[in-house]
Amino acid sequence: MKTRITELFGIKHPIIQGGMHYVGFAELAAAVSNAGGLGIITGLTQKTPADLALEIARCREMTQKPFGVNLTFLPAIASPDYPGYINAIIDGGVNIVETAGRNPEPYLPQLKDAGIKVIHKCTSVRHALKAESIGCDAVSVDGFECGGHPGEDDIPNMILLPRAAEELKIPFVASGGQADGRSLVASLSLGADGINMGTRFIATQEAPVHENVKKAIVGATELDTRLIMRPLRNTERVLHNAAVERLIEKEKRLGDNLKFEDIFGEVAGVYPKIMAEGDMDAGAWSCGMVAGLIHDIPTCKELIDRIMAEAEAIIRKRLIGLLG
Ligand SMILES: Cc1cc2nc3c(=O)[nH]c(=O)nc-3n(C[C@H](O)[C@H](O)[C@H](O)COP(=O)(O)O)c2cc1C
Repeated sequence: MKTRITELFGIKHPIIQGGMHYVGFAELAAAVSNAGGLGIITGLTQKTPADLALEIARCREMTQKPFGVNLTFLPAIASPDYPGYINAIIDGGVNIVETAGRNPEPYLPQLKDAGIKVIHKCTSVRHALKAESIGCDAVSVDGFECGGHPGEDDIPNMILLPRAAEELKIPFVASGGQADGRSLVASLSLGADGINMGTRFIATQEAPVHENVKKAIVGATELDTRLIMRPLRNTERVLHNAAVERLIEKEKRLGDNLKFEDIFGEVAGVYPKIMAEGDMDAGAWSCGMVAGLIHDIPTCKELIDRIMAEAEAIIRKRLIGLLG
């Protein structure tokens, strides 16, 4: 399948694996890229720019295909060494970066001067238009159903994607709630040029996370995610567990007086305990409603091949068949 996204990134299939904290290591990025999609290493999971350089080198040993690095601009008080991370990306010869979290404008000149293609992930049409206006090459439009941070507008992809298509000139992928060939065809119909998946790629053989995480996703339904941190305007969609229950109780009790310090125990530094050690109640971790559509743990190649075959069958048989 050829779309503006496959052309832009030089990939076979219009399927991207979004950056994921403590999931997006070289093993997963390489597996996705080798399967014809675009794998992405999560920059900030690497503690220093030097660590990121090593991770990029590891990925390069595992794939000859294009892969990218995610740079998430956090609302943190002490900002990570973003210029250092960008240098590691440039020196590592990576030419695709997924930005997220905040407006990437301060860092765009450094990225664009190095010939890097930037896809910015955002949750609203206005942010997508801003990304287009500052020179991003593409955007990833993250609907309300997505795992991670859906923003504060709560617009699901059935509305958000066609709205993005009405306004944007640059290519965009649909992100949030994408799992299979049906998702891909639906997103293409709504005007997107491909899909970005997070949660679906965690439940794969190559995702370097504890088996408990994969089992939790397969075992979950579309009813099992919760929104947290809304009072802090830092809303995150996470899988329900004991820590999330505790956190929601605090949110109810403290209302608008809630401060980050109140929920520190449930959200700070919990990812390694969950993703590496499989301690599923250690804290809140991002997960999409799409868990309800995830029933197995295939290899990335099996997953991507299946999505493409299913999409083709839907287009050639079901949709064309409807026209008689
Ligand atoms: C466990 C997990 C961790 C994530 N971490 C990040 C991150 O560090 N940076 C980022 O830009 N997006 C992050 N995301 C969001 C994904 O890249 C992607 O946009 C989202 O998962 C899409 O929704 P889906 O889960 O319904 O596919 C994360 C998602 C998950 C599930």
